[in-house]
Amino acid sequence: MAHKILVTGGTGYIGSHTVVELQKSGFEVIIIDDLSNSRQQVVTQIEKITGIKPDFHKINLCDHSKLRSFFNSHNDIDGVIHFAALKAVGESVRFPLIYYNNNLQALINLLDSLAILRCNNIVFSSSCTVYGEPEKLPVTEESPIIKASSPYSNTKQICEEIIEDVSRITPLRSIILRYFNPIGAHESGLIGELPIGKPNNLVPFITQTAIGKQKTLEVFGNDYNTPDGTCIRDYIHVVDLAQAHVSALQRLFNKEHESRVETYNLGTGRGYSVLEVLNTFEKVNNIKVSHTFSQRRPGDVPAVYANVDKAKTKLKWVATKSLEEMLSSAWLWEKNLSEGILRK
Ligand code: UD1
Repeated sequence: MAHKILVTGGTGYIGSHTVVELQKSGFEVIIIDDLSNSRQQVVTQIEKITGIKPDFHKINLCDHSKLRSFFNSHNDIDGVIHFAALKAVGESVRFPLIYYNNNLQALINLLDSLAILRCNNIVFSSSCTVYGEPEKLPVTEESPIIKASSPYSNTKQICEEIIEDVSRITPLRSIILRYFNPIGAHESGLIGELPIGKPNNLVPFITQTAIGKQKTLEVFGNDYNTPDGTCIRDYIHVVDLAQAHVSALQRLFNKEHESRVETYNLGTGRGYSVLEVLNTFEKVNNIKVSHTFSQRRPGDVPAVYANVDKAKTKLKWVATKSLEEMLSSAWLWEKNLSEGILRK
């Protein structure tokens, strides 16, 4: 019998790609999402890729009674991947209570329900943002966690702590995945990132400028102490990232984990500057993107990239897709979106 996996936030950007990889690996997937930052149409898109329609439930995890009744009728779930969370850094600074309430309450309600259900396997979606501005590069999982620079980042740190505290006194087994910079889209061009309003992140801003939705890309700062003066990040293809979730679950199910909570960096281990990303995008897609240089964005760190040795040895996972593949898939998705792929 296939393992049944609950994916919270399964219609979101990373969630939807993970659902596809789970289905391809033979897992049965159930999605919970409140659609606050995604669309139900994504469920159909997933079906177009895999031929399997995931079971979908529109639920906000903060609604404890609705969640309880969901679990009453789904008491045979073997594992959970928890993505559902608010994720805009700037917005979290403006609305801290909304972020704390949503991101913490959702996890608390979920863990509470899982304990009742005796479902003990959880994979949690965290971020390299917990390392802040690292003293040493590349960043290992042992690098210090520094005081969070935004409420969003703080919710990731606190959620990691909640998982550790609960794992200490219950049979819960957890894998915490710290993502570097996920970009790109599924090679089919059927699912991808769906930023609402003006994008905050680099690649959606590049693709929207290329398609004409944004006028000009602002490169935030070209006076950093890096080879070309622009910031360096560890960009990772979202499909590689999704596959790491499958490896994490398999490790839990195979009982290969060495402690109740394991933490992994997910990146490629290699950094690219903003200008390298921009130039590669232009080259691989044969299109020009209008850009200007502007002030540094507050809160940006000059360079972050991962040491990924731990994921390689323990999860037996490595990112395999190139920056070119990330940026050509992102462009295919943007073009499909502008042609109304989600309306078809
Ligand atoms: C951001 C979040 C991080 C989150 C990650 C998800 C912040 C401070 N951090 O990381 O918590 O996990 O997204 O992908 O927001 N850039 C431009 N012009 C733009 C947009 C970005 O030059 O219009 C530059 C930025 O200055 C940065 C790089 O591109 O150097 C990457 O930015 P972005 O995609 O926003 O990711 P992060 O800031 O690294």
